[in-house]
Amino acid sequence: MSKVTVVGAGNVGATVANVLAHKDIANEIVLLDLKGKMAQGKALDMWQQAPIDYYSSRIVGTDKYTATKNSDVVVITAGIPRKPGMSRDDLISTNAKIVVSVTESILKYSKNPIIIVVSNPLDVMTYAAFKASKLSPKRVMGMAGILDTGRYRAFLASELNVSPKDIQAVLMGGHGDTMVPLPRYTTVAGIPVTELIDKDKLKAIVERTKKGGGELVGLMGTSAWYAPGAAAAQMVESILRDENRIFPCATMLTGQYGLKNISLGVPVQLGKEGITNVMELKLNAREMKLLKKSAQHVTDVLKTFNKMKLV
Ligand code: LAC
Repeated sequence: MSKVTVVGAGNVGATVANVLAHKDIANEIVLLDLKGKMAQGKALDMWQQAPIDYYSSRIVGTDKYTATKNSDVVVITAGIPRKPGMSRDDLISTNAKIVVSVTESILKYSKNPIIIVVSNPLDVMTYAAFKASKLSPKRVMGMAGILDTGRYRAFLASELNVSPKDIQAVLMGGHGDTMVPLPRYTTVAGIPVTELIDKDKLKAIVERTKKGGGELVGLMGTSAWYAPGAAAAQMVESILRDENRIFPCATMLTGQYGLKNISLGVPVQLGKEGITNVMELKLNAREMKLLKKSAQHVTDVLKTFNKMKLV
């Protein structure tokens, strides 16, 4: 038996629930939103899709935390998305309060869930949920790296005219313009990408990836949801199936890469107990410098959060 709760029935939350339903790996998916009846409506719509698309996961929409009782995994998407001209960091004053309050409410009904944070600013909201939940650092993580590498892989697939399936990549650091794509660890069906693309083109793709979220905000007037939702669902899948897959995720660092007391994106393995391994890559001096710069940026936002004294 497995139960997954998705908090927030906006575009991202609804997409997480829908992608997850199609994977048919949870017995129950609870879609919770405190505002109005949107969660009930979207959940009912998805349940009516079940006979068409052949899944059995029971989808329940609610505005009450009692319905989340005994969840194995909780995905937090609640909060406001950015509008054109905003950075993810501009969302902190609103979203920090929401993420802390959601985490505390979830813990009243589920004693030891695994929490996946999707709300922005992602790295600091993951830290907020970790502090508010008092759970093991293995059980609280943030979704950003799968999305950011998804963008990077998609851009490379277009440029090289190959299937996105064949592109493997890892990316580290915060979910923002300081993220660190790692061309040295990027392959196309096992072939180092650097053998297939010229330096300038690769550099342009790395730059476009860093601003990938902003590009979509510019096009749609709000932030993305298909790739973000699918990315969070992929993390849930690795956990429920105990696959131990390797993904870049935001996690509390405890000395890895010389960093601690900070949540930041690094490659981890995900299984039924949450993060089963935090991988420490042998970064070169340039990569390490970029990672430290990204960590410094996240630390500055973390200071704003700590000043709010919510946890
Ligand atoms: C993005 C948001 C989800 O990068 O942060 O699209």
